[in-house]
Amino acid sequence: MIVIFLGPPGAGKGTQCKFIVDTYGLKHLSSGDILRRERSEGTDLGKEAQGYMDSGKLVPDDLIVAMMMKEIAACGDLSGFVFDGFPRTIGQAKELDKAMAQAGKKIDVVLNLQVDDSLLEERVCGRRSCLKCGAAYHVKYMAPKVAEQCDNGCGKLSQRADDTAETVKNRIAAYHAQTAPLVEYYNEQGNVKSVNGNVAIDLVTTSLKSVLDEVKARIK
Ligand code: AP5
Repeated sequence: MIVIFLGPPGAGKGTQCKFIVDTYGLKHLSSGDILRRERSEGTDLGKEAQGYMDSGKLVPDDLIVAMMMKEIAACGDLSGFVFDGFPRTIGQAKELDKAMAQAGKKIDVVLNLQVDDSLLEERVCGRRSCLKCGAAYHVKYMAPKVAEQCDNGCGKLSQRADDTAETVKNRIAAYHAQTAPLVEYYNEQGNVKSVNGNVAIDLVTTSLKSVLDEVKARIK
């Protein structure tokens, strides 16, 4: 099953991808995570992407497409993926379509996680993660037992550099200007399923499960 996960910053894509990966055995390809890895390794790509990410702008398509094609190739065959945060522009989507056609594969579903702008800043600014074990938290909606400390005993939690009120405004604007048009693009291919992401995490999971179970049954 090949899944694309669309949604604004802080909508809950990463949170729900954990469930999708665990339940359907898909490989999680998050362009944001890959870029953060490149940054922490100090690669040329990481250095080039840094300014865009810190200001909440999209990294140019040519850099992203080359990075994602390399990741896809490294995974071997294109049989089970959930793409999180990619594609994010029509140009990126067209490049992915070409790669899929060359591999004789097709996108089975585009999940469009809809969340009101008014909820996004609180979700983004309250996000915390543990750099040691990877555990994810939210100060209010998925709070650690002790404030700012990892439940697994790893120590202090971390906050992403771009998770500020200032940057999130730019990220939301970039989403509406450059990524939201993808819903129409994929609608024309007939494979978009919209899910209400304004509700609690477990309710979003239930809705996604019902969509993905149906897709899985259809492609069997
Ligand atoms: P990226 O890392 O992709 O960030 P994003 O799209 O802005 O998405 P987030 O990771 O912020 O949100 P999420 O939807 O995963 O939310 P989460 O589940 O963590 O991109 C970062 C930057 O990299 C971009 O700005 C850009 O510069 C660059 N980039 C990346 N991909 C690119 C591309 N393809 N092209 C160009 N540039 C690219 O949830 C957030 C918080 O809310 C968590 O704390 C969670 O616990 C909580 N939460 C989740 N769901 C709920 C709920 N239902 N109720 C209450 N709280 C919830």
